[in-house]
Amino acid sequence: MCGIVGYVGVRDATPIIINGLKRLEYRGYDSAGVAVINDNQIEVRRDAGKLSQLVDLVSKSPLNGAPGIGHTRWATHGAPSARNAHPHVSNTGKMVVVHNGIVENFLELKDELTSEGVVFNSDTDTETIVHLAENHKAAGISFEEAARRTFKQIEGANVVLLMSTEEPDKIIAARIGNAGGVVLGIGENENYLASDIPAILEHTRKVIFLESRQMAVVTREGICVETLDGEEVKPEIHVISFDAVSAEKGEYRHFMQKEIHEQVRALTDTLAGRVDFKEGRIRLPELKLTPELAKRIQRIYITACGTAAYAGMVGKYLIEKIARIPVEVVIGSEFRYSDPIVDENTVILAISQSGETADTLAAMEEGRRKGGIVWSIVNAIGSQAMRIADGYIVMQTGPEIGVASTKAFTAPLVDQYMLAILLADLRGVIDEKTRRQLVADLRLVPDLAGRVMDTEAEIEKVAHALKDIRGCLYLGRGINMPIAYEGALKLKEISYIHAEGYPAGEMKHGPIALIDEEMPVLCLAPKDPWHEKMISQIQQAKARGGMVIAVATEGDELVKSMADHVLWVPEAPWMLSPVVTVLPLQMLAYHIAAIRGLDVDQPRNLAKSVTVE
Ligand code: M6R
Repeated sequence: MCGIVGYVGVRDATPIIINGLKRLEYRGYDSAGVAVINDNQIEVRRDAGKLSQLVDLVSKSPLNGAPGIGHTRWATHGAPSARNAHPHVSNTGKMVVVHNGIVENFLELKDELTSEGVVFNSDTDTETIVHLAENHKAAGISFEEAARRTFKQIEGANVVLLMSTEEPDKIIAARIGNAGGVVLGIGENENYLASDIPAILEHTRKVIFLESRQMAVVTREGICVETLDGEEVKPEIHVISFDAVSAEKGEYRHFMQKEIHEQVRALTDTLAGRVDFKEGRIRLPELKLTPELAKRIQRIYITACGTAAYAGMVGKYLIEKIARIPVEVVIGSEFRYSDPIVDENTVILAISQSGETADTLAAMEEGRRKGGIVWSIVNAIGSQAMRIADGYIVMQTGPEIGVASTKAFTAPLVDQYMLAILLADLRGVIDEKTRRQLVADLRLVPDLAGRVMDTEAEIEKVAHALKDIRGCLYLGRGINMPIAYEGALKLKEISYIHAEGYPAGEMKHGPIALIDEEMPVLCLAPKDPWHEKMISQIQQAKARGGMVIAVATEGDELVKSMADHVLWVPEAPWMLSPVVTVLPLQMLAYHIAAIRGLDVDQPRNLAKSVTVE
């Protein structure tokens, strides 16, 4: 989803902005642009397509000066084209804007502005912002006041950066609602703005996060934060620990491949400092979970979108089995429309890699509004989902760049396993032996993941055999049923092959009609409590001529004798098996997409962080 970068300082803004935008490419976009103030004039370069096109444009027609703002656009209002690309300039050419979000009342505002004689040069909602600001400024007020009045007029969840030639030393930023973040980077005699940390990490690690309904006036000398109502805010300065290097591709062809492999390290880090193997206990201090709180919880709603929601489905099994608390998983976009039954003994647990997914944030807000306890499991440190929660668990995975989520799937599986043990322990519903065994099993996780990584060459061979399939059914049962969903999502989002995940037991109620020689069936059949049921599923698929690809436990001769292809995984304790069984499915999807020559890291129509409803 749209990326934003801004720079105020003595250096030329353009290279800083373009580099920053490159670091945000993972969010997905279809056009890009940059604007600087040079000799009291606003100059803009923008084009449809990838950043490389903007780089070409800037090299043919250089852009010097500062401050500057840049943008990668993911089209909402109006086609991806040069005229709709940001930045957008006001009619007098004195103001310029970039924007992330949707101005919900834009038609109304546009009508008003048009009737006053304002000329629109694009189909975007964004353009209303700059014209409104210019109208306010024309009344003789300061740039800051004009910006504030504008921000208060626009409805919806929006992030805005504005510059004006009349006060050319500053950028004014606002966060209105939850349209993704605004991070302000503090430098030496220069300052930065961005929609996400990786864009500015190479320059500074000292950052401020704007909260909803706050604005910032950013100059070379400093950053001044206020609410939209004009109250001064003393912002907290965060120091970011992960470095930009971990956001490079290194030896891998794609970020997705790198991130699949990084899971071994990420899973190790997930355990670090949280698992006391000697005592057989779990520590999750940021969750602020006391025995009293643990005992009064009567229900947990897990809410999330896409891959994060499938991680939540595994979490349901774990928390219900280990902690004996009823858990319901509600897709983020549905939570607020389902009138969930929430009281002060209900937990709303949001899972989100970005921590900025609009639907997940809306679900958290709904949970809060209804008086629930709001928790989150997030990857992006400082994200909204982390900040608005009563307690949180940070995924220790580092930045995830590939649009297809991988390490941000396995980390929350382990986080929820640990959460389940902690809840069970504090509620007194687990005996010491079981608790110690569950905790001890965690020690196996990184090594088990590493052993799957070693099978990549075999998985690539299977990918070659499957590269031309037109569809695939993914079947799983019990705790591995959500892995069927996740495996199918991975395949469809990056290879554009239709894939469906199904609970295996549902096959006979309809989808079995699809199985023939043309429809491969991927069966998750590790040695877990549902193994025998999955064997019978494989038999049923074979009896109908289907090609079977099985995920099976090393040494399982029975599965080997029945399946056409086997993706082997090491034996794992069943409650941790999803962490292992999903890995070959990530790799399979990755290799099929790579063999088909597709843009694995930025699949069509998708954004890394979906900050609109
Ligand atoms: O940042 P989030 O975890 O909240 O994102 C949720 C989904 O948009 C995300 O998992 C999406 O489904 C991925 N493309 C899956 O690979």
